[in-house]
Amino acid sequence: MLIGEAKIAARVAALAEQIDRESAGMDELVVVPVLRGAFIFAADLTRRLRTPCAVDFVALASYQGAVSSGAVRLVMDLRSDIAGRHVLIVEDIVDSGRTLAYLAGLLRSRGPASLRTCTLTHKAARQEVAAPLDYVGFEIPDRWVVGYGLDYQDRFRTLPYIGVVEPDDAALPR
Ligand code: IMP
Ligand code: MG
Repeated sequence: MLIGEAKIAARVAALAEQIDRESAGMDELVVVPVLRGAFIFAADLTRRLRTPCAVDFVALASYQGAVSSGAVRLVMDLRSDIAGRHVLIVEDIVDSGRTLAYLAGLLRSRGPASLRTCTLTHKAARQEVAAPLDYVGFEIPDRWVVGYGLDYQDRFRTLPYIGVVEPDDAALPR
């Protein structure tokens, strides 16, 4: 275990307070969780926000298992128009930075009133591409983490805490 449930809950509450403070005067946020990894974090974060929000999803893919293909694909686009609206991208993790850089560029091209990003975790040691990071939950070491939405080959997403996968764990039965 790397980050326990209580620590995650406290950090999520603090992030929501900070986002609320820095959203003063905004009538509404369009929260954009990135599927699939951000679904649990986004569910908890949005329920802590007092600023009114709409929620719309994108799905992106870049990884096959633990090996990055380098390329980011848009698997599912937003359903709503974000032009003139205040957008908050919610991510589970920023690793190389490619996914967030790609998505921020794509959404910025649609003319939002503002665009901010919130990521639960950030592996600073691995970042290769500049990506806008407005809100970061936890800086984490260069290890493969799972739980609270994060997966290893689609497993372990529903763990209530964030854990590190040891090489032997991958062989565990489902
Ligand atoms: P980036 O584009 O390299 O920043 O990678 C972001 C994506 O890689 C995330 O949205 C995750 O899907 C995946 N990823 C990178 N590191 C981890 C990890 O430690 N655990 C789970 N997923 C990860
Ligand atoms: Mg992800």
